[in-house]
Amino acid sequence: KAEGRNQTLIMEFILLGFGDIGEFQPLLFLLFLAIYLVTLSGNLLIVALVVVDSRLHVPMYFLLGNLSCVEICYTSTFLPRLLASLLTGDRTISVKGCLVQLYFFGALSSTECLLLTAMSYDRYLAICHPLRYAALMNGPVCGQLVAGSWTSSSLSCSIVIIFLLQSTFCDAKEIDYFFCDFSPVVKVSCGDTRTLQLVTSIISNIGALVPFLLILTSYICIIVTILKIPSTTGRRKAFSTCSSHLIVLTVFYGAVITVYVFPTANTPKILRKIFSVFYTVLTPMINPVIYSLRNKEVNDAFRKAVLKLAALRH
Ligand SMILES: *[C@@H]1O[C@H](CO)[C@@H](O)[C@H](O)[C@H]1NC(C)=O
Repeated sequence: KAEGRNQTLIMEFILLGFGDIGEFQPLLFLLFLAIYLVTLSGNLLIVALVVVDSRLHVPMYFLLGNLSCVEICYTSTFLPRLLASLLTGDRTISVKGCLVQLYFFGALSSTECLLLTAMSYDRYLAICHPLRYAALMNGPVCGQLVAGSWTSSSLSCSIVIIFLLQSTFCDAKEIDYFFCDFSPVVKVSCGDTRTLQLVTSIISNIGALVPFLLILTSYICIIVTILKIPSTTGRRKAFSTCSSHLIVLTVFYGAVITVYVFPTANTPKILRKIFSVFYTVLTPMINPVIYSLRNKEVNDAFRKAVLKLAALRH
């Protein structure tokens, strides 16, 4: 209990980030700047292609375009601030700013997870129920899935924030992380956090488990169906429509496991932090690369757009 302690409410936190890393600071700044620029341009390219090219106006690519929008916002919740503090050395963040960051980071990462689930469902329908695909997955359904992902993530994150707003922050000003994520912030709040932790663990466990099981079920059905296709070319063709998505899923869940499950007490702290920032930014950065390199339709759309731009210039 905080009573009895010298309780001065604080207005700002200090995000310790990577600590005192001295001469590595400019290097890290350049590394994260490069990551941020690649992420922004790659995802903007995907959004532009999906909007402009009419051959990509199908649910699968609408979902991909929306995923890219989410990834742009998601990286923008913490990378610009991290870059600024690496550049200026100013590590303070107001309590309000910190909670805003926490809210948007949480809501956007869970939207990303739900969109990846919707994309699995779309691939499941396309491969396991090809004849009913057009009836089951179309513009309106896709719009509902997108809207549902956004609303359920923002609602569940709002519940967490409402509980978090009731806790007070005193004494401990330092957050030992590079942005305001839930558990580092709860660590510095004073008073009783049991209800908050219970509510959050229920919400985050449901929020993580349900999409994971849905994705797993979809892919088990997809693989079983593909294995039943008699011809090799047919099998390869069916698999090629979901391979990019499968790689993105693997990277996403690999990253989640590395950041939240893998770290042990023995791993050096600085290494753990660099790992977790790297994996936090990895999925958004790599997603457009995978789609533009591996997916034939995105690839064609890109080539066509480049040719058009070149023709305009002449
Ligand atoms: C997002 O999804 C909606 C609904 O399907 C679609 O109309 C819109 O074009 C998508 N946005 C992008 C950028 O792909």
